[in-house]
Amino acid sequence: MTRLEFSGKLARDAGRLAHTAFGQSATSMKGRHDVLTEMDGRVERFIRKAIMETYPDDAIIGEEEGGHGGERVWLIDPIDGTANYARGIPHYCVSIGYLEHGVPTLGAIYDPSHDWLYAAARGEGAWHDGERMHVSDIADMQAATVECGWSTRRPASAYVELIGRVLAAGGAIRRAGSGALGLVDVAAGRVEAYTELHINSWDCAAGIVLVQEAGGFTNDFFAGDGLRSGNPLIATNAALCGKLAGVIGIPISR
Ligand code: IPD
Repeated sequence: MTRLEFSGKLARDAGRLAHTAFGQSATSMKGRHDVLTEMDGRVERFIRKAIMETYPDDAIIGEEEGGHGGERVWLIDPIDGTANYARGIPHYCVSIGYLEHGVPTLGAIYDPSHDWLYAAARGEGAWHDGERMHVSDIADMQAATVECGWSTRRPASAYVELIGRVLAAGGAIRRAGSGALGLVDVAAGRVEAYTELHINSWDCAAGIVLVQEAGGFTNDFFAGDGLRSGNPLIATNAALCGKLAGVIGIPISR
């Protein structure tokens, strides 16, 4: 089994486990508007065990248990869109990314509510259950949708300014509560861009590979301390990348 096949199977198995308690897992609060379910920890342990058994020399960083980087590092978000998951909104996923020497190399994202698996490998394309994925070719802001992710890690005023800039440029905005699935939507051509003023590496590592391999562009998210501390993120289709980088104020690198 290749690493890509391994990560896809693992994301699907982990997602099926998560879905057994969809909308029913016991919750607590990590912070303001930052939900934790009992299943987050259980799914992360399930994924860590499988990676440690198969690739014992690789490093692992997960949302719930942390970890350290390395030459080969897996980035796990056991449940992305936890607030949706906790309240029975069917928009959440398992996200497994993989970096080699700091380069986003593999991504697998499984959406249990639809039984949809998205997977990508650097240089090999992005796939939705075997179908090749492509970003949209919309070049007109009057027809473009930009998902603007939000968390309490940045001030509300900065978020309001961000959505104001996108709206003033003619775009439509949405916020659906899963950064990983937001990136999937860019890769699948369902929206033109995803952006967030701060996002963590486990939320977006897999989705970045999907967007790039579907013909889209992102900023250099892993620059500086992005792996450990997160960074701003922009991911767009090719047709609007120059325009949106200017509107949003995050330079695109690829
Ligand atoms: C969050 C979601 C949300 C994004 C936040 C993330 P979680 O992850 O991806 O959409 O805006 O930045 O923290 O808590 O659901 O795993």
